[in-house]
Amino acid sequence: MSVIGFDIGNENCVIAVVKQRGIDVLLNDESNRETPSVVCFGEKQRFLGSAGASSAMMNPRSTVTQVKRLIGRRFKDPEVQTDLKIFPFDTSEAKDGGILINLKYLGETHSFAPVQILAMLFSHMKDVAEKNLEMPVVDCVIGIPSYFTDLQRRAYLDAAKIAGLKPLRLMHDCAATALSYGIYKTDFSSTGPTYVAFIDIGHCDTQVSIVSFEVGHMRIVSHAFESNLGGRDFDEVLFGYFVAQFKEQYKIDVNSNIRACIRLRAACEKLKKVLSANSEAPLNIECLMDEKDVKGFIKREEFERLSSALLDRVCIPCRKALADATITVGKIHSVELVGSGSRIPAIAKLITSLFGREPSRTLNASECVARGCALQCAMLSPVFRVREYDVSTKYFSY
Ligand SMILES: Nc1ncnc2c1ncn2[C@@H]1O[C@H](COP(=O)(O)OP(=O)(O)OP(=O)(O)O)[C@@H](O)[C@H]1O
Ligand SMILES: [Mg+2]
Repeated sequence: MSVIGFDIGNENCVIAVVKQRGIDVLLNDESNRETPSVVCFGEKQRFLGSAGASSAMMNPRSTVTQVKRLIGRRFKDPEVQTDLKIFPFDTSEAKDGGILINLKYLGETHSFAPVQILAMLFSHMKDVAEKNLEMPVVDCVIGIPSYFTDLQRRAYLDAAKIAGLKPLRLMHDCAATALSYGIYKTDFSSTGPTYVAFIDIGHCDTQVSIVSFEVGHMRIVSHAFESNLGGRDFDEVLFGYFVAQFKEQYKIDVNSNIRACIRLRAACEKLKKVLSANSEAPLNIECLMDEKDVKGFIKREEFERLSSALLDRVCIPCRKALADATITVGKIHSVELVGSGSRIPAIAKLITSLFGREPSRTLNASECVARGCALQCAMLSPVFRVREYDVSTKYFSY
């Protein structure tokens, strides 16, 4: 029987499997290690994962992304309402106060609950894993943000069960990351605990934890989060900047056109990634709307200036985690940056000044949660023998 860890993120899904010789991240049909968290309903069929992402532009109103934001939430929740404003699909309030996603599929209007969409994603990831391993995949551990409510946790478990999986446990992202860091490391000091800060910046959220390691043992000392601060907020900064610029320069209102909004958002995300490696980046979109081609340009300095309020907010959970752990920055042995949202250079700079040391990237930023979950699954499964490792914390999992 296989032992699997799933990280179903707002932007990407990753599957890891423990094998006799170590942990592998499984490749999808396109040979990628990450699969977009997208479900797209077309006129004739449904597209999942990478196929969903490539069909999104053709079916803008029937493509669901970031379903993790909607799972187990109430329609009237002000935070949900803010999210819904930027999503292109139509939603309404369900009878129980939850959310219904209304879209066209096979030429008819259908309504889906977020848990059904999440189940489709789980089922797709299960298929990917089974194709890879050539055996049934059932037992698994799934990563979730530490701030998830009971309802959100239950919805995750339900979605996994609908997909035919048997989640042995839900595990907090930060605990999974810390486990994948600590279990193989043998050079911890024997004179006292080694404290490590983990900072995970994903597409929609930021999670920080302080973990103490000793040989054969780890303890989550504190954790803090900002559930509304991730890579997509930086995309929105660029989006707002270009919407204003194009209004003036080309006399177009991008916000009035759904397809143009999706295309500009996607271009801004790409631009943000280019700015992580270059000091300036161009933006060109053909026929964005009203048959106008648009051109833009931004320097990294300008982007950092526009994002300064967001950058300041990254510090808040970091400071809180330190305060809750009641340790000073000087006691932190290493600061580990994970989550692909953390690839923005200004974030590393900020963390350096906050912790007085450069952050490390020992772990694979996009795979560590899935890897930790797979390890936890192996520890819970009777089929595998894993090195004796003790994980103690009240923040550990569900
Ligand atoms: N080179 C890069 N520079 C800047 N940002 C990047 C880079 N590569 C990826 N990103 C951003 O990282 C974010 C996705 O990160 P990640 O895959 O960790 O999120 P996720 O796990 O799917 O989401 P969440 O943790 O919120 O559920 C996106 O906003 C993406 O634009
Ligand atoms: Mg993540």
